[in-house]
Amino acid sequence: MKVLVVGSGGREHALAWKLLQSPHIDRVFCIPGNGGTATMPNCQNVSLSIDDFEGMLRFAQVQGVGFTIVGPELPLALGIVDYFKAAEALIFGPTREGAQIEASKSWAKDLMQEANIPTAASATFQDIASAQAYVQAQGAPIVIKADGLASGKGVTVAMTLEEAMESLERILTGQFGSAGETVVIEEFMAGQEVSVLAVTDGKTIRPLSPAQDHKRLGDGDTGPNTGGMGAYAPAPIATPELMAKVQTQVLEPAIAALRARGIDYRGCLYAGLMITPEGEPKVVEFNCRFGDPETQAVLPLLDTNLDELLMACVQGKLAEFPEIKWKDQASVCVVLAAGGYPDKVETGHFVTGIGKAEDLGAYVFQSGTKLKNNALVTNGGRVLGVTALGDDISHAIANVYNAIEFIAYDNMYYRKDIASKAVQGN
Ligand SMILES: Nc1ncnc2c1ncn2[C@@H]1O[C@H](COP(=O)(O)OP(=O)(O)O)[C@@H](O)[C@H]1O
Ligand SMILES: [Mg+2]
Repeated sequence: MKVLVVGSGGREHALAWKLLQSPHIDRVFCIPGNGGTATMPNCQNVSLSIDDFEGMLRFAQVQGVGFTIVGPELPLALGIVDYFKAAEALIFGPTREGAQIEASKSWAKDLMQEANIPTAASATFQDIASAQAYVQAQGAPIVIKADGLASGKGVTVAMTLEEAMESLERILTGQFGSAGETVVIEEFMAGQEVSVLAVTDGKTIRPLSPAQDHKRLGDGDTGPNTGGMGAYAPAPIATPELMAKVQTQVLEPAIAALRARGIDYRGCLYAGLMITPEGEPKVVEFNCRFGDPETQAVLPLLDTNLDELLMACVQGKLAEFPEIKWKDQASVCVVLAAGGYPDKVETGHFVTGIGKAEDLGAYVFQSGTKLKNNALVTNGGRVLGVTALGDDISHAIANVYNAIEFIAYDNMYYRKDIASKAVQGN
């Protein structure tokens, strides 16, 4: 079978790589892909834009693609799944309506309230005076969020009233365009974050190995927010007891509430959770797709054929699907970024040493790379995601940093403390 993967990040490289491990998959197409998917055997990039639904569907039909999987949120929110479904082309991901769970934070909050899913108390505003009055009455710390898709830049965790007011101003005066017409103001939650990526056929929902992401640029969780500087799995804070609560208090009620709204959600439902100091899971947000870089940490641990699992979701047969199998190991993914990230990034530097890192057993998932005259050069903020497994987290950390030693490009930057929280056991 041939599969089409939509997107160009490390997540999509990891999805394509994992799909090609399956005996059923002989070819993967990536739209538009990156330097990694361009050079992976049996994988081919296709130069189409991810909002060109007509072009992508035509390509899938002409090539006889068995199914399509969508990486990023934007095409999902724009209705790629509705478009493919109308032509009876199999596709993994929620419809435009289902993607609202990520594309509108106030919509997601309403759904959570309806389903009694534990989350921060919140209020939604469109006019600045009432929003300011609310913030004044609540006090700091408080969390201010642009309602719509803002590429991870729409949220301020305000430790002071001043910061909160400044953020309200920026959002409601148009800095985020239509994504900021509505603002969601939330109670501040303390705790540790865990990402639970779950797959669902709209009736049954099953979690993948729980992961922890590192959003801040600097060691010790300092500096500005980024798309993610690394991840590891399984996250020890997500004990079996906690995961049981996540299943019954978060994942199942979410799917039930979506069904109650007439939404047949088939795809990945990603629950971003805060684990409170009391050990209770509370939802920070839902995403309607696989996480990046969590996917690069989680998929190398998966011992089930990914295509079979995704197809079971697309075909509404997840209840009958056998238990998902995992390697009894730990996985750590460290993101290698470009100089200047997350602001203005340098591009066009030659990347070397990937083969040596792979010889050591690491998986090198590419994101901001491209081929230039057959040489691999940097082409974005997050350049590579290097993943290594180990018998426990400490070994996985040692293995990944050992492999990274061999990789080089000008002004390469990465965090040195990915997954160290898991070792300290807090
Ligand atoms: N209510 C909250 N309390 C504390 N921290 C929060 C809260 N909401 C969000 N955050 C922090 O802000 C980050 C981004 O918020 P999130 O809702 O995930 O938005 P997005 O991923 O769309 O930028 C979270 O990962 C978390 O670290
Ligand atoms: Mg988030």
